[in-house]
Amino acid sequence: MTAEIISGTEIRKTILAEIKADVEEMKAKHGKVPGLVTMLVGKDPASVSYVTLKVKTALSLGFHEIQDDHPEDIPESDLLALIHKYNNDPDIHGILVQLPLPGHIDEQKVINAINPDKDVDVFHPINVGRLMIGGDDARFLPCTPAGIQEMIARSGTRTSGAEVVVVGRSNIVGKPIAMMMAQKGAYANATVTIVHTGTTDLSVHCKRADILIVAAGVPGLVKPEWIKPGATVIDVGTNRVGMNKTTGKAILKGDVDFDAAKEIAGKITPVPGGVGPMTIAMLMKNTLKAAQYALEDIR
Ligand code: GUN
Repeated sequence: MTAEIISGTEIRKTILAEIKADVEEMKAKHGKVPGLVTMLVGKDPASVSYVTLKVKTALSLGFHEIQDDHPEDIPESDLLALIHKYNNDPDIHGILVQLPLPGHIDEQKVINAINPDKDVDVFHPINVGRLMIGGDDARFLPCTPAGIQEMIARSGTRTSGAEVVVVGRSNIVGKPIAMMMAQKGAYANATVTIVHTGTTDLSVHCKRADILIVAAGVPGLVKPEWIKPGATVIDVGTNRVGMNKTTGKAILKGDVDFDAAKEIAGKITPVPGGVGPMTIAMLMKNTLKAAQYALEDIR
């Protein structure tokens, strides 16, 4: 039987509509809207395209948005001074510094400089620690993992007691989603295994997964025979494998062989149109939350 497709494009629409309604309510109640600054250094094409989409989405929701672009050679001290300025700006609730940064800038130093209450990417060590503690301490959830959990929840996939296997141990996706799925609580409470480049046999673990989350960045890594029949497969891979000569757009391929996998899985996310569209929606949700906390003076 062909798997049910979990469409990030559709779920995103619902989430953005929910955020828009909350922005209207905030405007009526406080006379304020969420404020987001997006900081881009250099002209890496993938980063430019992500930031453009973030700016466009923020504006479509009625956010106050500052697009703060800088040349590749901006000194680290100038970037830190700008972050300090935005940390103290009451109209800015979220600060996003697009990564990667050029080699002369210490990425962790930049992340550490962001006020954790405005760290809508959830990269600051304080927020990573809060995520580990879980419950109410985790006020923001990192964007891609939050998008994944939202897709699992909204597709009606059972998580409590399920075997979740996460392929990849990055700080942005693998480690946080593994922690979130293992927490006690709704849409979690799972038994989680993390596999990575040091794992002897990936297939053995993947075959056990009721929910298989793949964030390895290797096109077609997961073979159809590694998928347990009926499993939910979440493909985080967005590998640029070429360029469409007519549209000039990148051709994206996931980490899972989608066409074959959809004949075995119970539910599956496509690439493109799966996890990708969710990430920016969750960034907007975090910015809204940051503004709500700030306006209600919750520290
Ligand atoms: N670069 C790739 N993904 C991300 C992300 O989620 N946030 C930021 N700031 N940079 C990125």
